[in-house]
Amino acid sequence: MTRAGPAPEPDIAGRLRAGLAALAGIGRDPTTGGYRRYGWTAAELACREWFRAEAAVRGLDCRSDGNGNLWALWGSSWAALPDGGGDVVATGSHLDSVPDGGAYDGPLGVLSAFLAVDLLRARGMTPTRPIAVVAFVDEEGTRFGVSCLGSRLLCGAIEPDRALALTDAAGVSLAEAMRAAGADPATAGLDRALLDRIGAFVELHIEQGRGLAALGGPVGLATGIWPHGRWRCRFTGQANHAGTTPLADRCDPMLTFANTVLSARKKARLAGALATFGRVSVTPNGTNAVPSSVDGWLDARAADEQTLHELVAEVGRAAAERGGRDGVTVAVTAESVSAAVTFDARLRTRLAGVLADLPGGAPGGVPELSTGAGHDAGILAALVPSAMLFVRNPTGVSHSPAEHAEDADCVAGVHALAAVLADLAGLVDPAGAVHKAGR
Ligand code: HGY
Ligand code: MN
Ligand code: MN
Repeated sequence: MTRAGPAPEPDIAGRLRAGLAALAGIGRDPTTGGYRRYGWTAAELACREWFRAEAAVRGLDCRSDGNGNLWALWGSSWAALPDGGGDVVATGSHLDSVPDGGAYDGPLGVLSAFLAVDLLRARGMTPTRPIAVVAFVDEEGTRFGVSCLGSRLLCGAIEPDRALALTDAAGVSLAEAMRAAGADPATAGLDRALLDRIGAFVELHIEQGRGLAALGGPVGLATGIWPHGRWRCRFTGQANHAGTTPLADRCDPMLTFANTVLSARKKARLAGALATFGRVSVTPNGTNAVPSSVDGWLDARAADEQTLHELVAEVGRAAAERGGRDGVTVAVTAESVSAAVTFDARLRTRLAGVLADLPGGAPGGVPELSTGAGHDAGILAALVPSAMLFVRNPTGVSHSPAEHAEDADCVAGVHALAAVLADLAGLVDPAGAVHKAGR
């Protein structure tokens, strides 16, 4: 990387607040204050327009890949990039949200990537290796049920036919949603040519837990992601009248479902794992009717694959057993499963070294911690050396309007990300030392 004369350091805190403020009005529910930016909806598309404007104002070459993920390139153009080569250092996250999500989960990583570019530019640097800011589409899987849909399609971690046929609650398929947004579903799928251009991917994300708050550092490094997944549990009983059907004559799926929620919680506790039923759909959902069926989605997570899959199997067995007594059948269907992720050790060690050298860096280096939250970096990690930086979340609350990170910690995150990008992109630092291009 070559250096022009340094400019005054940009007001990162001010730009951070401005960036969050620019996004704040998009897809925010006025009643709850939470965000409802679901894949390929108007709200997420509006966030993408924000992304394109941020890229344009920086003169970055912005393109969408065949899956709807946005990539903004600094230091080259997409047309000029040689095939393969694995030279691009990519960084970013997602812009979509869970229902009533917070302001930081996803957008902080994308905004911090743009601000890290600003910081490096202000220091008079242009990357020896191009740097790409990326926003993956539909990471939360809120609308179509599969998480990290954009990065899974990019990496070939889901068959395009299966993904494109996924439907939302209104029966709209992903293919139809893409077309409605002006995208061509025929281009969805593994993009080997793009992936071969990426040498490393670093995702900055608000921590979704209190690990850093307890360890006392503004920035941490991820070691890995717990295996986790979502299973639809369908309880089928017999619709009947709430006021005239004797209790003994009922085949009430709500009863079996309720027992399953309690038994899943107990089994997860005993296994040191996590089980959540946060979403339920009742048919016909009448106040004075015994339901005909209940769908409940089990979100299960554990520190290892065996614990996770034993937990899910045990929950299914117990549900079927209880259903047998209630006259209810139970069907458990895996909808979105993510294997355990261990991030690239060499890349992580390199980043730990960079972060330990940061001015004001913790003497023993930054904390390193695993997470139970899924991320696009966890999908890319199968094909590209990937890493994650966490920014302290004082309360640990996430997937909630109450999610929050302090400006000072977010600014520390931007500086950490800029240092990491500088190192990986082969940067001549202010002391004149050249960091070899990471690979
Ligand atoms: O659910 C998750 O772990 C992530 O927020 N997609
Ligand atoms: Mn999330
Ligand atoms: Mn996220």
